[in-house]
Amino acid sequence: MQRVAVVSGGGTGIGKAVARALAAEGCRVAVVGRRVDVLERACEEIAEAVPGAEAVPVAADLTVPAQVAAAAEAIGELGPVDVLVNNAGAIVTPPAGDDLDALAAAWRRDLDTNLLSAVLLTTALTDRLRRPGGRLIVISSAAAQRGGAGPHSAGSYAAAKAALHGWAFGLARQLGPDGITVNVLAPGYVAETEIFGAGWSEEFHARKIADTLVGRAGTPEDVASAVAYLASPAAGYVTGQVIGVNGGAVLGR
Ligand SMILES: NC(=O)c1ccc[n+]([C@@H]2O[C@H](COP(=O)([O-])OP(=O)(O)OC[C@H]3O[C@@H](n4cnc5c(N)ncnc54)[C@H](OP(=O)(O)O)[C@@H]3O)[C@@H](O)[C@H]2O)c1
Repeated sequence: MQRVAVVSGGGTGIGKAVARALAAEGCRVAVVGRRVDVLERACEEIAEAVPGAEAVPVAADLTVPAQVAAAAEAIGELGPVDVLVNNAGAIVTPPAGDDLDALAAAWRRDLDTNLLSAVLLTTALTDRLRRPGGRLIVISSAAAQRGGAGPHSAGSYAAAKAALHGWAFGLARQLGPDGITVNVLAPGYVAETEIFGAGWSEEFHARKIADTLVGRAGTPEDVASAVAYLASPAAGYVTGQVIGVNGGAVLGR
């Protein structure tokens, strides 16, 4: 029987690599994001790269409850969900100056995009998760472990990602008795994604690489390999964990 996987933010970057990896493992994959053209192109790429693969675009803004509910209905057509990967996210640039209204709006946008999106999609799909055997994976960030504030982030990104950890631990407790595992993957710096596109200096990229012990940027495939393991039947005894995929930029947490 073919397994069903759902990957939020699966149209680009890490999510696209995850969707391709799960398709290669034999899953039918629902690829969720806001931009229909991006999703359709990603699904075509996956079908070309993995002969026989079925990747289905599901357009939704995951910060909007009604759109999440509609997406869950569409995903439900594929059957019980074996693997749910909450990967959608973004870094919200903080406003300059000390305008508290602007700061509040930026924090809310960051929390909506990185935290609420995962909470809404997971809640809408919880009843549809395979029991036993379901796999829930949350993509966090090394920023949750190291902090991260500066010109590109007001700290709201790190805070939103850290909040995912506590939420995921509770879910692991709640869903463990049903035979569902819940784990957090915290990537370090991963190049070749939209999140670190234009606007980030050469010095920033070089510093991120210098932070690692292996002397290179991560790739979306580095993260996808770890997701594929956590999503596999072999990982049934791994739950409630935060796993770093960071080239050694963060040690042992
Ligand atoms: N790249 C890194 O170094 C790095 C490091 C640590 C953690 N991460 C995390 O990894 C995840 C993937 O990021 P990435 O680096 O692959 O960047 P990316 O290419 O920008 O991917 C983010 C994806 O999320 C989707 N998305 C954003 N807001 C959404 C919304 N409201 N509703 C639905 N989909 C939404 C985007 O698609 P649409 O715009 O079409 O909606 C996009 O496909 C993120 O959670 C990010 O925080 C990345």
